[in-house]
This record gives sequence, C-alpha cells and structure tokens, in this order.
Amino acid sequence: MYNSIDAKSNDIKSNYHLLISGIVPRPIAFVGTRSKDGNDNLAPFSFFNGFGANPPIVGFSPALSGRTGKPKDTLLNIKENPEFSISIVDYDIVEQMSLASSEYSRDVDEFTKSGLEKFKCNDIAAPAVKDSPFIMECKLHELIELGGKPASGNLILGEVLRFHVRKDIYTDNRIDPLKIDAVSRLGYGWYSRSNQGLFEINKPRVNGIGFEALPNCILKSNDFSGNELAKLASVKAIPVLSSDNLLSDKESLITECKKLLSIDKVDKAWQLVLMLESILIEK
Ligand SMILES: Cc1cc2nc3c(=O)[nH]c(=O)nc-3n(C[C@H](O)[C@H](O)[C@H](O)COP(=O)(O)O)c2cc1C
Repeated sequence: MYNSIDAKSNDIKSNYHLLISGIVPRPIAFVGTRSKDGNDNLAPFSFFNGFGANPPIVGFSPALSGRTGKPKDTLLNIKENPEFSISIVDYDIVEQMSLASSEYSRDVDEFTKSGLEKFKCNDIAAPAVKDSPFIMECKLHELIELGGKPASGNLILGEVLRFHVRKDIYTDNRIDPLKIDAVSRLGYGWYSRSNQGLFEINKPRVNGIGFEALPNCILKSNDFSGNELAKLASVKAIPVLSSDNLLSDKESLITECKKLLSIDKVDKAWQLVLMLESILIEK
C-alpha cells in the first residue's frame, strides 16, 4: 500500500524532495531584510506559515546551502538586524519572485534585480514589495537552528507588528480569497494559483541580468508585464542579434515577442527585443 522510506538511511536530497513535493501546496513568504550596513535583500521561502494569533506569529525557514553549508543572506541579515517583512506573492509578480530567488551575492539588492518597487514599512527599516496584495511587518521572536549542517533549516519565528492589506482585496474586514490571487509552491518547478490551479515555472539556472540591464525600449514601455520582463531579465547575458528576422514593424515585433515569452521561448523572444531596439534607434 505504501513505499515505506526510512528517513535516516535515505539521502538528504531524497528527503528534501519528499518534503517539498509531499507537503503541498506551500504558501510563499517573500522576505525583505536589511543588513547592518543598510543593504536590502529580498528572497522567497515556502517553508512558511502562521503559527498563532495572540501574539500573531509567523515562521519560515532559510536552510543552510545543501552544497556548501553556507547561510543565506536573509538569515545573516536577520541575525544582524532582527526584523523582516513578508510580502505575499500573487500571480502578477510570480516570475519576478522566481528571478529574485537567484543566488546573487550579499551586496546585490534583489528588489532592483527583479524590478520590484520597495514599499516603505512603518515599524521596521526593512522594505517590503509594493505590488504585493498582503504585507506583514515582523520583529524576530525566536530563531531555532535545526541541525547546523548542509541543508539544515533555521526556523525563524516572527511577531507581526503590522499588517497591510491592499484595498481592492479587502471587503468587510476580510481578505477575499478569489481576489488575493496568491501563488503557492509544490515540488520541482510546480506552482499553484489559488483560484485557478497548477502551472510550471522554469527555475532560474543562472543569476539573471536583472531588470536594470533590460533595454529601455521594453522597460519603459507599457507593452510588457512584470512577468514577461522577468523572463527576459533571467538570461545570463544579453544575446547578440542574428540577422534572420523577417519582422520589421514595432507592433508585430511586440506581439510576436509576447507570444514567444508565453511559451518560454526566451532566446527567440530576445532576438525580437534586439530587432525592436535597432528599429527604434534608427528612428
Ligand atoms: C518559491 C520558492 C520557495 C523557496 N523556499 C525556500 C525555503 O523555504 N527555504 C530555503 O532555504 N530556500 C528557499 N528557496 C530558495 C531561496 O529563495 C534562495 O536560496 C535564495 O537565493 C535565498 O536568498 P538570500 O541568500 O538572498 O537569502 C525558495 C525558492 C523559491 C523560488
């Protein structure tokens, strides 16, 4: 009836995959922190939940790297500055969240990389994500180390000092479950959109170039959504324009580019962005 697996003799990676593909779907905490030097950091964590209402307590767990045993920037920042923001991720910012999960070095601000505007918190210095439908400002309640070895967790419990609920999802002092449009995480690249069902995202394999490296012709136009721009910002380097493009007017280039992004043909979509840029420069 069951495959019975002894966790102690099972390898770490297999235990990890059982946890992340069996405990599903998991909510996602998009965690904003600030180091003592004032560097902001943003990263998603799906070992996350709420644990009590009096006082309101939330918890999430940044693991030590399974490869190197090194702590994540979020954990280092909270040890230096015991507070954090949690922004709930909705479908409109899911690709930007995925881009922000890349392992950028500590001095890199993932708000900038993922093109997400900062929300200034009231009670803590760390910023939150302005486009999130629901934000919690938290101070550290307790940090519990769960092993101290590669892939060990670090349970961070925080007391919520302040909630921010976007007005359009809040009716009669309740969050509307259909309107919040939160996304949650399953195993591998799978996610769930609460009001729709499952979808898959290509996990970032490299540290993407980020929004600040995108050409202005797409960044400053309103033609592309944050999710579309995040896919373009996830490449390792801006590719070189090859000359086999047949389209030459702006509208068809944009339409075709968006079609390619919707089916994750990011390299081909980039060729159209470069073509678009060259047309606009010529004008
Ligand atoms: C949806 C999602 C959920 C994640 N959940 C966790 C988690 O619960 N614990 C963890 O250690 N890493 C998790 N990660 C990976 C971290 O986000 C990633 O290691 C990130 O680079 C950490 O950033 P930091 O070093 O700036 O803190 C998750 C990634 C994604 C995309």
